[in-house]
This record gives sequence, C-alpha cells and structure tokens, in this order.
Amino acid sequence: MRQKIVAGNWKMNTTLAEGIELVNQIAERIDQVPQDVKLIVNTPFTHLFAVSQAIAAIKCPFCRSKIALGAQNCADKEKGAYTGEVSAKMLASVGSASNGAPVEYVILGHSERRGYYGETNAILLEKIKLALSEGLKVIYCVGEALEERKAGRHFDVVAEEIKDVLFNLTGEQMKNIVVAYEPIWAIGTGETATKEQAQEIHAFIRSTLAEKFGDMAEETSILYGGSCKPSNAKELFSQKDIDGGLIGGASLKAEDFIGIATSY
Ligand code: 13P
Repeated sequence: MRQKIVAGNWKMNTTLAEGIELVNQIAERIDQVPQDVKLIVNTPFTHLFAVSQAIAAIKCPFCRSKIALGAQNCADKEKGAYTGEVSAKMLASVGSASNGAPVEYVILGHSERRGYYGETNAILLEKIKLALSEGLKVIYCVGEALEERKAGRHFDVVAEEIKDVLFNLTGEQMKNIVVAYEPIWAIGTGETATKEQAQEIHAFIRSTLAEKFGDMAEETSILYGGSCKPSNAKELFSQKDIDGGLIGGASLKAEDFIGIATSY
C-alpha cells in the first residue's frame, strides 16, 4: 500500500513563535487524522530545532508517530565555504541535537526554487543524492507553467524533470522519494487542477517511473500541490493515483491542514 501523505510547505512564513504555535495547534488536533495518513510539516530552517522538540513533546506515542518533520531545501555541496547554505548533514543532525523528532524529509525541486533561484535538474540531482546519503527522504517536485500547459507540453516538461533527475537513482534510493506534482499555475493562485487533470498527469508520472523502476512505481507516493484546501482535497484524493497533497497556504492554519488530512 502506498503511504498517504499530507505535507505542509510553510515556505517563508511564520516567525519562530508563530511556527511553534502552529505545530502545537496541529498536535492538538492530530487525533482526528486517520491512522494511515502521515502528516509532514516542512518548516523554515530557523524553526526546525524547536518544532522537532514540539513534536517530541506530543504525549501520545501513536499521535506522535503520525507527524514528521521536514525542511524545504538543502545545499548541493557537502560542506565548506558556502555562506548561507545548509547541508543535508546539518538537517539530519537536528533531531539528535535537540533530543527531538528527526528531520526526516526535505522538499527539493520546488518550482519556486527552480524559478527564483535557478535550480536546474543537474543541481537538484546533486541535492537529492546528498539528502539520501544522509538518510533523509526527499519530496521531489515537478510541474509545468501555464504557457507549457496551454501549449500541450505539460507531459514533456514533467517527463524531463523526472527522467533527468530520478532516472539517475537506484531502485533502493527511489524507495525514499515522494513525488509532488505541482502545476505552477495552481500554486497560490486559488486555481486548482481539476481532479481529471490531476489524475491524468499523476498516472502519467507513475507510468514514467515504471519505465525505469518497474513495479516499484506502484509504491511511490505521488502528491498533488496547488491551491489544495479542505473544500477540494476530497475529490482530488479520491483519484486512483493521487496519494495526498503538498500544501502551501492552507498548511498555515491548523484547522485547514487537519481538514485536508481528514479528506480521504
Ligand atoms: P499553495 O497550496 O499555496 O497553492 O502552494 C502549493 C505549494 O507550492 C506547496 O509546495
């Protein structure tokens, strides 16, 4: 069975105090989340240590096991003179340093990183390899721009983002990859892909993965991201190849985030 995942991408939002309050509010409601759904909060770097401790402080071990911690980026270099960068090894060290929950995930390939910071498929492959080598799991994002969809190029764009990057991994490495399909035109715009549009491309992503990884593609969780909210999550998550969501804006309110996680 593929893991159902609802992952929040907080992006560059919340002060530290607000972030701690948000995770505590999520923790208070976590008993509502179905047993087979995993929540992930991908916080800013500055919040990881404190959120790690807040997760570890959830009293009920079963509830605690339903929520994991993630980051939103890591460096494409192992260590050294790269001012301002944060390495995969640093991320992996957070949990043990705080006696808290480990950083288990890192989002890589988000369209905002590709678009605003020039991250290419080659750079992303380096980042993914480093993250995996530190025992992190990767939420790898793909998705097309509006012009690309209008030109009917969305399948080609997504195939290239998958082949150039994920096809360089081994089957063993692929077990630690979650794919997120995020059409750029649906991110933060209020416009969501229809369930048919989303299912069509999720199925395409799975069949593309199967070209290289065979049956393992059936085990890969593929998340939808882009203006996903409590009111549309159910119809999206009911689709055969949609295993959950990568949530931006609606992950910043505990009620909405939990609302989405209870939408299966
Ligand atoms: P929104 O949910 O705000 O559209 O953002 C989606 C996203 O980019 C998650 O990574």
